[in-house]
Amino acid sequence: MRLPSPILSAVLGLLAASAVAAGPQVEVFKSPYCGCCGKWVEHLRAHGFEVKTRDVADVPGQRRALGMSEAYASCHTARVGGYLIEGHVPAADVRRLLAERPAAIGLAVPSMPPGSPGMEGPRTVPFETLRVNADGTAVVFARH
Ligand code: CU
Ligand code: CU
Repeated sequence: MRLPSPILSAVLGLLAASAVAAGPQVEVFKSPYCGCCGKWVEHLRAHGFEVKTRDVADVPGQRRALGMSEAYASCHTARVGGYLIEGHVPAADVRRLLAERPAAIGLAVPSMPPGSPGMEGPRTVPFETLRVNADGTAVVFARH
């Protein structure tokens, strides 16, 4: 079927607008027994991300298979828009990553800093979000 081009471009415009509104889906690989992983998922959803969770038995093995270095390990690994997100990375950092689209593996907040999204509690510490490069190095992406 051939559509007149004004109609076709209107349809494509609508499709593009809805894709931007929804944003790419985040796929989170986590242990079914991880409470803070679930809280991070809620944080993402509260900030407008559509999230699909995948419970895995071997979280470190899954991290390795996805291609995130052990050096930046946390409790879960996620995939979004061609990037990997390791640990309790703030939703705003994920949005900025997807907007800027740097050449990188993705972002990581190694370990589980108290006070990071999903790790809220009485204690809060400053933490950094790292941009992890393809060669295994990392640079500071954001300070919190
Ligand atoms: Cu955690
Ligand atoms: Cu987690």
